[in-house]
Amino acid sequence: MIKDMRIPNHVAIILDGNGRWAKSKGMPRNYGHTKGSKNLEIICEEAYKMGIEYLTVYAFSTENWNRSEDEVSALMKLLRNYMKTALKTAVKNNMKIRILGDISRLDQDLQDSIKNLVQKTAEHTGLKFQIAINYGGRDEIIRGIKHLAKDIKEERLQAEDINEDIFSNYLDTTGLPDPDLLIRTSGEMRLSNFLLWQLAYTEFYFADVHWPDFNKQELEQAIEKYNLRDRRFGGVREEK
Ligand code: IPE
Ligand code: IPE
Ligand code: MG
Repeated sequence: MIKDMRIPNHVAIILDGNGRWAKSKGMPRNYGHTKGSKNLEIICEEAYKMGIEYLTVYAFSTENWNRSEDEVSALMKLLRNYMKTALKTAVKNNMKIRILGDISRLDQDLQDSIKNLVQKTAEHTGLKFQIAINYGGRDEIIRGIKHLAKDIKEERLQAEDINEDIFSNYLDTTGLPDPDLLIRTSGEMRLSNFLLWQLAYTEFYFADVHWPDFNKQELEQAIEKYNLRDRRFGGVREEK
């Protein structure tokens, strides 16, 4: 890795290509998801070692419910297991875990283990790790607007006072800095409804490899490419 590289403070990743990875090996899609979830643990550790402070990953979208029943139930089973291992890893590595998305659609036991994980890691000071589950950028904005409308109706907020900062507080990401770098694996170049508000000025990087093959070297390469970018915010250069 290049010496004295600028490490992005917040990296967001669209974990894509588990299915294609498995298919290329003649295996069922769910095998790709299992490998993908193992890879997530490895990348979390690597990201933190590199000095990344915030890592946010897209694990299950509001649109992913439309996949086959078999695949959705395999993904939910994997999430269940992941919550258990994540608790151990988070305690070991001092990670603070937060969930983005509407978890009320998940089974009660999964909601309970998510709440437990978030609560048990709330005081941790290491990597801030956000997992987006049943997350959609449009859904997040609509839920935020509903909440905001309620606050106006019940006179906790005046409509004239709404601004970007106040609206941000109604999103799932409240309190988090916007991502500096977004990575999507597997060659697809779209957002698929991820962090629509928060990615306004983020740099994008698209990796050709499928998520289970996205390793430390790939992450370093993404950061190297990020370092070659001349970040601008409305024509104004970023202070280095
Ligand atoms: C990403 O891999 C994981 C989830 C969206 C849950 P995919 O399942 O989208 O794999 P591909 O894109 O079909 O190969
Ligand atoms: C985006 O990937 C969602 C997640 C990675 C969780 P998809 O594979 O679902 O998105 P599309 O269908 O290719 O846009
Ligand atoms: Mg996909």
